[in-house]
Amino acid sequence: MESLIAKLKQEKNLTDAEFKAILQQDFPESLLFSVADAVRREVYGDAVFIRGLIEVSNYCKNNCYYCGIRAGNCKAERYRLTEEQILDCCETGHALGFRTFVLQGGEDPYFDDALICKVVSAIREKFPDSAITLSLGEKSKDSYRRYFEAGANRYLLRHETATAEHYRLLHPDDLTWENRKRCLFDLKDIGYQVGAGFMVGSPYQTVHHLIADLRFLQELMPDMIGIGPYLTHKDTPFANHPNGSMETTLRLIAVLRLMFPYALIPSTTALGTIHPQGRELGLKAGANVVMPNLSPGDVRALYTLYENKRYSGSEAAESLELLKKQVANAGYQVVCDRGDVRRDG
Ligand code: 5AD
Repeated sequence: MESLIAKLKQEKNLTDAEFKAILQQDFPESLLFSVADAVRREVYGDAVFIRGLIEVSNYCKNNCYYCGIRAGNCKAERYRLTEEQILDCCETGHALGFRTFVLQGGEDPYFDDALICKVVSAIREKFPDSAITLSLGEKSKDSYRRYFEAGANRYLLRHETATAEHYRLLHPDDLTWENRKRCLFDLKDIGYQVGAGFMVGSPYQTVHHLIADLRFLQELMPDMIGIGPYLTHKDTPFANHPNGSMETTLRLIAVLRLMFPYALIPSTTALGTIHPQGRELGLKAGANVVMPNLSPGDVRALYTLYENKRYSGSEAAESLELLKKQVANAGYQVVCDRGDVRRDG
């Protein structure tokens, strides 16, 4: 395994059979994590970048089988933030030190292009030193271009799975792998810093699907890569499918760091939810971003993509001091700047 890890570091690539071995074989992972950590330190030092996550709406017109805020879940209590509430969140976040605001939401038709552009322009004007990241799902290239011109810099759209047949098992027929891919390349073409990613251990996922995910990322070369374990939600068709594995997620974070040294890789809330130390372990495996929740307190419990989603303690933006201590204990330092990607690092 030592020579495989060295090869991955050197060549940023492996054969399919070698990826399979690194993902599935039993071996002590400490070497993999420490090599990934060394590569991350070469490019980014001990910096951990923070992003303020504002969950603008949990209305969604889609029916993804894994997701708790799917349209078909009539038990979900729905909310959407007003423009004023979103700006207030940014104000609070900016005072705390956040210089990236992530507007994430379900695909809510109420947030049409005019409203999205209005909100983005207002944030851009008020916080010229901050990056604006959107995570609002699949749109036309024209719409993506309008948001970009209004001042958005980055877009997060996980590809979820890069295998068309697997994509069909996770989504209803109106959502296609082809369109997902189209969106990601459109975003790149417009000039966004783009984030893709996938769930680990999603229903029916095999190691071949994971390898296809890695190959797709090699083709896309995204700036950000977000992964987390699949976590069940009782009010979805996948209620009976088990959670993904933290161990596989951590291995994949390390593999991604070695394949994409420049990438911004979050240690996700899902990782922090599946294990009390998940987020620190993610940082030690090569992740370098955390995204504390900056949504208004009274809606945080409603943005329930999966069960037991954490939103208090160091997951909460207002507890930044606690987060700083936890990050320092893990051996890193929270940095309060925009934290743009370092492609030439
Ligand atoms: N478990 C883990 N992650 C989930 N997501 C949606 N539902 C779940 C779930 N049940 C992830 C998807 C989506 C991101 C916002 O959250 O990958 O892109």
